[in-house]
Amino acid sequence: MKYKNKKLTIEKINFQNLAIRFGTPAYCYSHSKLEENINNFKENFKSFSPLICFSVKSNTNLNIIREIKKFGLGADVVSKGELMMALKAGISPNKIVFSGVGKTNDEIKFAIEKKILLINAESKSEIQVINKIAKRKKKIVQIGIRLNPNTDAKTLKQISTGKSENKFGVNSKTFHELVNYCKNSKNIKLQCLSVHIGSQILDHKPYERMLKAISNIISKTKYKFEFVDLGGGMGISYSNKIKKLNYKKYNSAIKNFLKKHNTKIIFEPGRSIIGNTGTLLSKIIYIKDGGIKKFIILDAAMNDLMRPALYGAVHKILPINKSNIISRDIYEFVGPICESTDKFVTLKKFQKLKEKDFVAICDVGAYGTSLSSNYNLRPKPIELLIKGRKIKIIKNRQKHKDLI
Ligand code: LLP
Repeated sequence: MKYKNKKLTIEKINFQNLAIRFGTPAYCYSHSKLEENINNFKENFKSFSPLICFSVKSNTNLNIIREIKKFGLGADVVSKGELMMALKAGISPNKIVFSGVGKTNDEIKFAIEKKILLINAESKSEIQVINKIAKRKKKIVQIGIRLNPNTDAKTLKQISTGKSENKFGVNSKTFHELVNYCKNSKNIKLQCLSVHIGSQILDHKPYERMLKAISNIISKTKYKFEFVDLGGGMGISYSNKIKKLNYKKYNSAIKNFLKKHNTKIIFEPGRSIIGNTGTLLSKIIYIKDGGIKKFIILDAAMNDLMRPALYGAVHKILPINKSNIISRDIYEFVGPICESTDKFVTLKKFQKLKEKDFVAICDVGAYGTSLSSNYNLRPKPIELLIKGRKIKIIKNRQKHKDLI
């Protein structure tokens, strides 16, 4: 996204034109940014050519997953719905891994029928169910066991997954027991150790600690894992002040790990692939003077983008038409929903805005639409994929008649 003649553009298109033509709120994705992210990701780890499974939960749009598939990525799914979507997008089953603490019998059956690469199990009970269903179907199913390495990911508490207080995976003691249990389960082939310690990680040190924990446990179990699935979690810069994750250091920690353990690495990135490709375009409905601050009331709300209300996440907001006139007021960007948490951000020294102006809420490609809802019975926004001068509608705006 760049300003050209003071107008904010995505690829070769003006946001103003998109807003007028397609209405607001609108999710707009940049194809070239997606391509750049995937190429960078591959480049960062090219020495050991990992299997990169896009974490579908971060963006479930069929067209987006289809584009990602074209770059050769697989998928990480956590429900039957996501698995169906990945398959529909044409992702080959042997590039799909299935994570999640509560897979139902129906989901496990479906995953077995589709012959996906791995079901990453998270408890003994789940392994027993997989074995039972596989036996009934006379199949041998490849599984992973998710380890909870008790590693602090140094990220938001709500998106940490690798500490012992979190529900995910099993601790090292149980992991040992389960490796032995799998050896005696005839319809299961244990192929993978999987981990995922959290999301929006910007410090490489938690990854180093995680690798150390995995290395120790593999040495102790003396089991040959075909795959080690390191999950996702690589953070992105939501503001210019945030330091970036040091991929070089993460890469060299993995290379050191691979010197000791001969295995194929799997990644499950979501945010680092799709996060900064998406922008939520919105219109100012009203500006209300609240005394201490001015409320900029947008037509986008917490149902369209949950992250600020759910995690206190901050997304940059940019004006679509730039001017040099700075407001003296404090601006609070809010949505029309009947909740006080329906606010995006409070800013000082923003450019002076007026009603009917458009603004862009940045870096919403990951966990934007996928976390959206119809709260307050609001139809979901249109989604557009921009490639150069081309605009493709990748999801129609919901209509009230779809909801009522
Ligand atoms: N693998 C597993 C097993 C996961 O649970 C997740 C994310 C990922 C991969 C992808 O993580 P990523 O590379 O996107 O960080 N809604 C929150 C994020 C929740 C992440 C849940 N798990 C947010 O908006 O920040």
